[in-house]
Amino acid sequence: MEWGMANRMHRMFQPGSGNAVMVAVDHGYFMGPTRRLENVRATIAPLIPYADVLGVTRGVLRHAIDPAATTPILLRVSGGVTVLKEDLSHEEIITSMEDAARLGVCAVALSVFVGAPHEHESLHHLSQLIDAGEACGIPVMSITAVGKELEKRDARYLALACRVSAELGARMVKTYYCDNFEKVVEGCPVPIVCAGGPKLDSDRAALELAYGAIQAGAHGLDMGRNIWQSDHPVAMLKGLRAIVHEKATVKEALDVLEAEKKAGSAAPKRAAAP
Ligand code: 5RP
Repeated sequence: MEWGMANRMHRMFQPGSGNAVMVAVDHGYFMGPTRRLENVRATIAPLIPYADVLGVTRGVLRHAIDPAATTPILLRVSGGVTVLKEDLSHEEIITSMEDAARLGVCAVALSVFVGAPHEHESLHHLSQLIDAGEACGIPVMSITAVGKELEKRDARYLALACRVSAELGARMVKTYYCDNFEKVVEGCPVPIVCAGGPKLDSDRAALELAYGAIQAGAHGLDMGRNIWQSDHPVAMLKGLRAIVHEKATVKEALDVLEAEKKAGSAAPKRAAAP
């Protein structure tokens, strides 16, 4: 691996655990101002010190993240459809690798839609993006199964989507948790990070998901709604960090979360967007 590529991977996956806690805040690109992301800057600010990586679009990067911040950025570069459309798979590459390099990001991310109407185009876009990323030392993350494709969330489907992404050259893959998740990890030769999906019923459920993913061999999380839609986002993030970096059990992570809640971190009050 070239120095630039290797350096970017090391900046995301932490020395010690070899894992990463990525905080995904890119949902607005197809969901609009979803709950607790109405004022994206206010949502992100308290999380920055505890995120190993922030996943955003270039619009949110420019609007909500101080250029003095040193947190590695994972830039979403696919999009072009919204939740108003039936077929979410009709994405294009919406941000060039040139702009990603100009923005100084650590990695770029694109969704692939295996089994969906635009499967072929999305895999072709992934290959094109990887060619461009390899040329300038920027790793590409493939995001498997988003939106309606999530209905197919089982180990066989996700293992196929992750393996295809790795075979095309993705340096890392983000996917969703499922039963027998170890089968998904086993079949994927590059690091897998696990998304959270829609907000779960409880903090415990989100910690259990994270614990299951790490136990199965995931290299971390790329989680959004179960962090910033929690009533205690910083506490949740600290609990997740204990699982990902310190091999904490769910009980130990809950203790971290409860201690942080007592110390007083709560979701930011909604403020008018600047
Ligand atoms: C949106 C995404 C999200 O980044 C991904 O789904 C992770 O967020 P969450 O944990 O909320 O699912 O790719 O398309």
